[in-house]
Amino acid sequence: MELKDIRVGFVGFGNMAKAMARGMIKAGMPSKNITACARNWDKLVKTSEDMGIIPCRDVYEASYYSDIVIVAVKPYQVEEVLEDHKEVLNEKAVISVAAGLGFEWYENFLEPNTQHLTILPNTAVEIGKGVILREKTHSLEGEIAEKADALLQSLGYMEEIDDDQMNVGAAITGCGINFAYMFVDSIADGAVKMGMPKPLAYKLAAEMIKGTGEMVLTSGRHIGQLRDEVCSPGGTTIRGVAALEEAGFRSGLIKAVEATMTDSTKKKD
Ligand SMILES: NC(=O)c1ccc[n+]([C@@H]2O[C@H](COP(=O)([O-])OP(=O)(O)OC[C@H]3O[C@@H](n4cnc5c(N)ncnc54)[C@H](OP(=O)(O)O)[C@@H]3O)[C@@H](O)[C@H]2O)c1
Repeated sequence: MELKDIRVGFVGFGNMAKAMARGMIKAGMPSKNITACARNWDKLVKTSEDMGIIPCRDVYEASYYSDIVIVAVKPYQVEEVLEDHKEVLNEKAVISVAAGLGFEWYENFLEPNTQHLTILPNTAVEIGKGVILREKTHSLEGEIAEKADALLQSLGYMEEIDDDQMNVGAAITGCGINFAYMFVDSIADGAVKMGMPKPLAYKLAAEMIKGTGEMVLTSGRHIGQLRDEVCSPGGTTIRGVAALEEAGFRSGLIKAVEATMTDSTKKKD
């Protein structure tokens, strides 16, 4: 299945939808295969012109010519935005990225026999290096399932996980990408304090993070061992580790994961 044979319609075209669309175009999908609707028409038209995609006035228009409709509005808006368009969605594959709305919710909400799947990507899909969590329970089948697989695989690494693990998984991948940016930014600040120019500090920190991930995934060694290998007795690293522990580095991250798991389907004030 080639990306040029797949048509995608976005319902909502904010940060996540744009990241996904950019990733699809980068992977070879013609930008004219992508339609989108959003709330603010002028903003949508401007973004669409920049990216070469087709802006649409409403959900029906964005969905009509698509094989796959990606629901990318805030979770608390999904019901209201899709309510009057269930009929057109019944002929499509609906892929939702809305955090907290899984298979059961869509099964109860959409028309019977509508094919649907819930995923939680992170914004690195923009460069084809995203992590996409894919709910184990779904109702895609046949050619549409093949199209969805081809589309999602073009955006990065995909992991199928149990329905009840989606939100905690997204704490690591969807929210964790922000925590990792914070790490890069903070360690670079430390280097700036010690006299290094910030652009160089960012580059070194980002390259170091890339290598860290690869080492964890490919070295075959336990993370404790990998850590010990860069922590000689009385050395510089253990002094940095002690400073991080004193500042609550681990407990801060553990609390951060827990904090992300509030109900995202409720409207925020
Ligand atoms: N951002 C992430 O890293 C991430 C990760 C995983 C999952 N998600 C999920 O992705 C979804 C979108 O998040 P986001 O961060 O992309 O939010 P966002 O940047 O605020 O985008 C939301 C989009 O929804 C549009 N919208 C609002 N009301 C609408 C309506 N009545 N009809 C059509 N479109 C409407 C907005 O249009 P206007 O711009 O014109 O107002 C905007 O384009 C959420 O459900 C979130 O849980 C996000």
